[in-house]
Amino acid sequence: MKKKILVTGGVGYIGSHTTVELQNAGYEVIIIDNLSNSNAEVIDGIERISGLRPAFKQVDCIDKEALTNVFNEYPGIKGIIHFAASKAVGESVHKPLLYYRNNIVSLLNLLELMPEYKVEGIVFSSSCTVYGQPEILPVNEKAPIQPALSPYGNTKQINEEIIRDAIYAGAPYKSVVLRYFNPIGAHPSAEIGELPNGIPQNLIPFLTQTAIGIRKELSVYGDDYNTPDGSCIRDYINVVDLAKAHVTAIERILNNKSEAPLEYFNLGTGKGLSVLELITAFEQSTQVKVPYKIVGRREGDIEQIWADPRYANEVLGWTATESIEETLKSAWNWQLKLREREIM
Ligand code: WQD
Repeated sequence: MKKKILVTGGVGYIGSHTTVELQNAGYEVIIIDNLSNSNAEVIDGIERISGLRPAFKQVDCIDKEALTNVFNEYPGIKGIIHFAASKAVGESVHKPLLYYRNNIVSLLNLLELMPEYKVEGIVFSSSCTVYGQPEILPVNEKAPIQPALSPYGNTKQINEEIIRDAIYAGAPYKSVVLRYFNPIGAHPSAEIGELPNGIPQNLIPFLTQTAIGIRKELSVYGDDYNTPDGSCIRDYINVVDLAKAHVTAIERILNNKSEAPLEYFNLGTGKGLSVLELITAFEQSTQVKVPYKIVGRREGDIEQIWADPRYANEVLGWTATESIEETLKSAWNWQLKLREREIM
């Protein structure tokens, strides 16, 4: 009998890739997603890759009654991987209450239902934004949490605190909090990938849409930072590597490997790349030019951040392995597939 894992937001970018890796690892996946920022066709893509169609319910995690019905319909859910959240930094500045309601009530509902249904643990999708602009780089899990620069980032910090306080109060479940750096790329099959609605906010989807001609040129937000080439530095991590970390994390809980009821891990490659270096790497990997222009800084951007991944490597037992060249090629192949299927 396969162990059941509930993946909230499983039709989304990281959720769909994690579903594939969970299925590859022998788990039965139940996806819930409100489809507010994703398309149910992604489930077809998951099935084309793994040969297994995950159960899917269009449910909003802020609807506790609907959530309860899922636990009743799928008894025996052992673990939860919680991705479902609003995640556009810029939008959160303009719609803070929507972000606080959606991102916080969703988590509260799950945590309140877990003891009733004997769910053993929850893997929480957090972000390196909790560190703000670190004083020391690379940044490890002991780095201070800094005041959030956006309501989106603040919901990640608040949710981490809610999980911490619930577990310290004796909640009968464990949690692993995964702080992502910058997830990019797509599954090597090009059957699933990043599919942002509207104009992409993140760098890679905008870059590949520019490369294929959907966008006229890429705006590089600033080249006057205190970095070698003046553009911002980030730690770009392959989305399949990231997905595999979630399988390792949920297995850590279900197989009682975790040393504590609550653990935090930075998920990055340990290498920083500037925006301009990334553009060069993309062009060299794909032989496709990316027209770009330097414009002013984007409000809220931090200058530079990259992970110290040693704790995740040594304790979680996970390491990012995919090269940036292969990752960028996967992003490009995904963009080509979208064109081929006339989706974009
Ligand atoms: C990366 C770099 C931009 C677009 C955010 C969230 C993080 C996670 C990932 C959700 C920056 C530059 C970007 C463009 C550019 N979100 N850029 N032109 O802001 O590091 O992280 O998204 O899980 O939590 O904080 O990612 O891809 O938006 O930007 O020059 O058109 O690319 O200035 O330096 P970011 P990003």
